Amino acid sequence: ELPRPFTVPLPVPTVARPVRTTGGVDRYEVTQRVADVEILPGLRTPVWGYDGLFPGPTFVGRSGRKVLVTVRNELPVPTSTHLHGGVTPPDSDGYPTDIVIPEGWRHDPHGQGGPGGPGGPDGHGGQDSQGGHGGMKMSPDAWTISRQTKRYDYPLDQEAATLWYHDHRMDFSAPQVWRGLAGFFLVRDAVEENLPLPSGDRDIPLMICDRAFEEDGSFRYPALDPSLTGRPGVEDAYTQGVMGDVTLVNGAPWPELEVDAVRYRLRLLNASNARRYRLRLEPGAPMTQVAGDCGLLPRPQRLDTVTLAPAERAEMVIDFKQWKPGDTVTLVNTLEDGAMRNVLRFRVARRAKDPSHLPTRLRDLRPLSASDAVATRRFDFRMTATDGGHAWTINGHPFDTERYLASPRLGTVERWRFTSDFHHPVHLHLAHFQVEARNGRPPAAHEGGWKDTVDVRPYETVDVLARFHGYRGRYMLHCHNLEHEDMAMMANFRVV
Ligand code: C2O
Ligand code: CU
Repeated sequence: ELPRPFTVPLPVPTVARPVRTTGGVDRYEVTQRVADVEILPGLRTPVWGYDGLFPGPTFVGRSGRKVLVTVRNELPVPTSTHLHGGVTPPDSDGYPTDIVIPEGWRHDPHGQGGPGGPGGPDGHGGQDSQGGHGGMKMSPDAWTISRQTKRYDYPLDQEAATLWYHDHRMDFSAPQVWRGLAGFFLVRDAVEENLPLPSGDRDIPLMICDRAFEEDGSFRYPALDPSLTGRPGVEDAYTQGVMGDVTLVNGAPWPELEVDAVRYRLRLLNASNARRYRLRLEPGAPMTQVAGDCGLLPRPQRLDTVTLAPAERAEMVIDFKQWKPGDTVTLVNTLEDGAMRNVLRFRVARRAKDPSHLPTRLRDLRPLSASDAVATRRFDFRMTATDGGHAWTINGHPFDTERYLASPRLGTVERWRFTSDFHHPVHLHLAHFQVEARNGRPPAAHEGGWKDTVDVRPYETVDVLARFHGYRGRYMLHCHNLEHEDMAMMANFRVV
């Protein structure tokens, strides 16, 4: 029995508290562990959560002020934590083979190991992987192992933005995020704080994702090995991506939020493994986008709908003053019919004073242009035949930890051209970019500003101007459909 929509109140993830704040540095500790939570009324769902929470606690950092997060892994499997949208040094970036192993886990460099023993023949197995990867290549010394804990350093030399963090373990990101390993990481700065945008409890992060459930309330996921210790991958029917039949917002099914009849700033994140959303209000009313993936847009954009591929963010200001107490307004996904069309309902409770405004300008942003690009590179995302069958590939290659598809220079801008055979949300670690063109035409308004993920749709060509800024070293680009990612649709680049 699935819950009736709009009967559960919207939860807001708790804000993480630093264990120490000294010398301009905020230190946090977070423990990844199994916990039972109530998602469907009356049932217990075991989640794998940061601090046992799903979503994990929201970190709030300040531009230019360093955050150090020590992650302790008390789950039964390895993890790797990536700050999505973070300008992060390579050894803190959550590379898939830079893992934190739990106590008692024996790492096998040729496979992934297992609880108390090396992985059997079903382990990753290097070049002759049986895991449905279609020939993903990995050398035994690709692994960096931390025992039980790892400290991630986030200098946060970047502007205010809605970032998020999630698991990135080699071959197993999709099931591990599905079980709950994801949370918000907000960066604030002075520019943003001096704007009269809605704030405090009228500034709400909304993590939207779909999940499926077993009768007993546990998450349903078609993993080949549900223990996530052996053979990676999903059943053949799900190689395009796994979708659920319940929409969760901040971990609650089709929730309801009571609002005052004033403006709210809603930080939308599509944290789904594979589902896309085209969101609008019903009854129809305009929303105003103020920020994209990596921060504020130069100017607010009035929109009727906003489309989010997996991992994309959009911050929307909605003015509930246009309705009266007692009215309800529903955020719907127009890409779906039936129950999955529902996302979240707002119930306008009362009139209230509104100190917020929508300024006409939000921040300075120099648009990059073709003349900024020192190189053009192409990345083709598609299903390719390989020795091992078929694989999701980039430029014909399934992920190979030793292969670099590009070596951009630190401090330069390059045009990266993405083409595809399917919906592939393309994400770059480290580098933020501006969308230059979609099929040769200027991008839609909601794709303005700095981004880290772009929705590349079937048979499209998307050009982005990416700025390689921050650190030298090994980073990656990949498809953020998490099943495609686990099936090797990743590649390295090296900033030199
Ligand atoms: Cu949000 Cu490499 O990913
Ligand atoms: Cu993909």
